[in-house]
This record gives sequence, structure tokens and C-alpha cells, in this order.
Amino acid sequence: MTRTALTTDDLTAGAPVHVPAASGEWWRDAVIYQVYPRSFADGDGDGIGDLPGVTAKLDHLAQLGVDAVWLSPFYRSPQKDAGYDVADYRDIDPLFGTLADFDEMLAGAHERGLKIIVDLVPNHSSDQHVWFQEALAAARGSAARDRYLFRDGRGPAGDEPPNNWQSIFGGPAWTRLAPRHDDGPAGPQWYLHLFDSSQPDLNWENPEVHAEFEDVLRFWLDKGVDGFRVDVAHGMVKAAGLPDWDGHVAMVEGTVEEAPSDPGAPEDGSTGAGNRGPMFDQEGVHEIYRSWHRVLEENPGERCLVAEAWVEPLSRLARYVRPDEMHQAFNFSFLTAPWDAAQLRTVVDVSLNTMDAVGAPTTWVLSNHDVVRHASRFGLAEIGGKQLNGIAATDPQPDAELGLRRARAATLLMLGLPGSAYMYQGEELGLPDHTALPAEVRQDPSFFRTDGAEPGRDGCRVPLPWVGGAPGNGFGPSDKTWLPQPGVYADLAADRQYGVAGSTYEMYRTALELRRAEKIGTAGLAWVDALAGSPDVVAFHVAGVVVLSNLGATPVVLPAETDVLLASGDLVDGAVPADTTVWLRA
Ligand code: NOJ
Repeated sequence: MTRTALTTDDLTAGAPVHVPAASGEWWRDAVIYQVYPRSFADGDGDGIGDLPGVTAKLDHLAQLGVDAVWLSPFYRSPQKDAGYDVADYRDIDPLFGTLADFDEMLAGAHERGLKIIVDLVPNHSSDQHVWFQEALAAARGSAARDRYLFRDGRGPAGDEPPNNWQSIFGGPAWTRLAPRHDDGPAGPQWYLHLFDSSQPDLNWENPEVHAEFEDVLRFWLDKGVDGFRVDVAHGMVKAAGLPDWDGHVAMVEGTVEEAPSDPGAPEDGSTGAGNRGPMFDQEGVHEIYRSWHRVLEENPGERCLVAEAWVEPLSRLARYVRPDEMHQAFNFSFLTAPWDAAQLRTVVDVSLNTMDAVGAPTTWVLSNHDVVRHASRFGLAEIGGKQLNGIAATDPQPDAELGLRRARAATLLMLGLPGSAYMYQGEELGLPDHTALPAEVRQDPSFFRTDGAEPGRDGCRVPLPWVGGAPGNGFGPSDKTWLPQPGVYADLAADRQYGVAGSTYEMYRTALELRRAEKIGTAGLAWVDALAGSPDVVAFHVAGVVVLSNLGATPVVLPAETDVLLASGDLVDGAVPADTTVWLRA
């Protein structure tokens, strides 16, 4: 078999492509672990995770070695979109516990040196929010209606939606109210919802909405949270007049094609389709973040704002993290990049350059609660498009072994990059998605709104296995889990991996330990010159370490006496085989 043999000279660093920032706020190099509360750990046995469950597992997180935890929403909510439909921004849903449970969880995290980031959902509320209920009861043109985006319909009887926008979850983005006696000739009004009809969009032209959310920020800041992840951060302000738009709105797009309606195709190596319709990435959002930045600065300590903004190219995303706005933005260009050496190098280069240009840290992410987990994604023949959102039993199924192998290699590549990295609960166990969930158990609104054409995101939200073979694999004190776990979860449970050499958990733990010890997060980066054009190998210097990923079939023989610090898979006769990443002492 052909092998590529490297000498020590071959591993020489080129010129630095990234020079670390001088300031050292905690989030610049933090590894941030996403807890999806309903699926993390169940404290009361109802089959749905909760805040006491999170508190009980804080030691798992501290021992893993992460710096911070971001919790998806736990607010009072009818759970139409798993909590991203908030009915009360200042209270905990009884499903998840109480405000006292929150305080206990926060204190427990802080005792262990873990920061806590909470999720803020300002683009829309739940239709059960008191404001929306008031708006429904009030007349057209009232102050109560002006907190949302109510409009008269088109057509003589007003029975056509105000514009042609589609919901991101499928179907029209407008719902019409039920008729009532004072409707007048235009008939009942319509309201805008970029997501589910139970998630009406708020009107960010209204100063009352601004004041309310600044107050919500202060409520949680006073409790002591360390930051906010801002949902749909690119969507709050809509273009004046809400003009028609024929483009396709999506939360996550694949890498395969660009939207035909998007004339400004990404030119900077970022992937996927730009989302620059009149509902996204409008100039007005930046003023909101400038004012929130000021609110955070009123508080002692270092608190951060993290943008969830599906905006491309990366140069547009960088505008959200200018010095007086937010502090980080999720790097979805990295998440959607295929397993391809040249494309990965490009996205890393462009990410570092564009974020360096505004003085913000780059972030890296491979999985979250909206996309197919990377252990499943990388096992697909083609990654992209709908397959990113969910896999159904009738879809081509991932190759589990290949997926895990590549996922582990991708993870070591990610954790070797300077900046801040986000990980999604369960990826430290190498969990795949449930890729064959029956329709009866699915809960994602996108499944219902597309009549099942989109499987939806439930597959990546399956309750975690803590104790292999126990009822519910130890998710909680009963055997209940709100979604069924796939059979492989027993073998992948946390207790089967703790202390087991070579397990995915131990690989993550060691990587995080080394990352901290070597100060990788705050280091500069230089490509290994001799491999900078390689079709199969990605290799760079960071701190005192060389990170080398082999994505090709040809094994890469390391120079004799190389000090291998960590590997995502076994080396074969001193060579790095296909789909393997190694960390070497430089
Ligand atoms: C993005 C969140 O991550 C997703 O889960 C949610 O459905 C939408 N925003 C709407 O809030």
C-alpha cells in the first residue's frame, strides 16, 4: 500500500495566519457545553430532563473539563417548539423545576468553576405569552397588537396573507385570526410567525419590546448568569414594508448548493446558502446588540452575548461581533463544511481572518440540537441539504462506524483550533442520532408543518444514556424517556466509558486537559507549510502542538520518534490512517 512518509522538516510551520488577541476575557478560549435540558438528565422520573437533573450531573461536566454550560430554554412554555416558544421569560417551566432549582444549579456550577449561559428568545414569544393573549383580545391598531406583527390580509376580503413569506418550519409564515364582530371589511388580521404558528414574531420597531427585553436581561444578570445565547439573532428586524421575497428561508442549509435567489453567493469559502431575505440580517439588529452590550457592561464581571445567526458569508457574521456588539457568534460555516481537507482549511482560514478583523474570538461547532449529530452526519455518503436537519427511517442510513471514526477525528481537529469551541451534550460519548424514529413519537413542529416531508430534529434530541443497560439507560429514576433511545445507546452510556482507555469520553477529557495545559485556545495558528496544499491532510501548529488530520485513504507515516500526545484512532505501524487526527509535540 502507498504511504506518505513525513520528515521532521515536512512539519515546519509557515507564517502565522492568526495572532491571538491581547485581552483575555473568559469566553475567548472557552469550551462551552450545550445542555438541552429536556434530554440531559431527569431528576423526577417523568421522562423529561430537568434542572435538578442538570445539578446532579455537574460533576460529569467539571470532570470532562469544559469551561461553561449553555442551557437551551427552560422558561415557562407550552413546549410547542421544545421551549423555544416562551410564555414567561422570567420563570421556569414546571417541567424543568422552579426558580429555586435554577439558583441551586447556578450556584453548583459556579462552585465548580463552570460559567452558565442561558438562552434568550427575542424574535418571537409563545402564543400563550400574556402579551399575545392581550393582542388577541384587543382591536386592530391597538397598542397590544403593535407588540407583534399584525397586518391586514391582501385581496378584497383580506383573505390572502399579507406577503408571500414561508415559515422556516414549512407552510406560510402568516396565520389569520378567527373572525369577530368588529373586524370590518378587511376581515380578521393576520400575524407573522417565521417559525410555528404558536411562535408569533415580536415587533422590534416598538420601544416597549426593547424595554421589556432589556429588563429580562437584567433579571437573569441579577441572578448571576455569565451570558446569553441569542436565538435567531439575525431575524428580529424585518425590512420596512415586509416586501414579498421568493427566496427560500432555512435555519440550516447544506453545503451542496447555493440558493438560486441569493445573488450574493458566498465568496469567502463559507458554505451553504445566504439567508439574506427581508426577514434576516437587517441593519437594525445591530442597534439592539449595541444597547444590550451596554446593559451587560452595567454589571460586574465578564458577561457575554452569543449570536445564533445563520448569516453568510462569514464577513456578514463578523458584523455581529464588532467591539460594541455581541462577543461571539456560532460558526455554522464550520459546522456545515464537508469532510474535505481543502474546504476545512479554507473555512478555518476565513473564520480566523474575519473574526480577527473585528477583534472577536472565532468559535467552532460540530453539533447542536438543530442538526444531525456529527457522528451520524459524517457517516452519510453526502452531507447537506435536508439531511442536516434530520434523518428518517426511509432515508439512506449513515454508516455508524465510519461516522464515529470521522466524528472523533473532526472533534480533535476542532478542539485543536484556537478560539472557543461549542460541544453538544452526548457528543463526548460519540452518540449518533436516532435515525429511525417512528412518526408517532416525533415532536418537532417542522415534521408536522411539512406533513412529514422533513423528519425534523428529534433524532439529535434523544435523552442521554448515563448507565448502560439500566432502565432508560439511567436517564432518570424511572424507565421513561420522552423519546425512545436507539439500541446502541446502552454500549455508549457514560458509565461504560469513564476510565476506559480509547473511549470517546476519555478522548474528549484528555483533549480538553491538553487544550487547557498547552493554552491552545489563546494560541496563534500557522499551517504546516509542506502540507498546505495537500488534498487529504489538514495540519497546523498551535501552541507547542502540531494537529494533523488525515482525511484521505493513504496512511501518513510520522517522522521517527514523534511524540504523539493524543490520537482519535489507533496508529498503524507508526502511520496515521484514514479519518484520523493526531496531536503531536511540535
Ligand atoms: C433556533 C433554535 O436553535 C431552534 O431550536 C428553534 O426551533 C428556532 N431557533 C426557533 O426559536
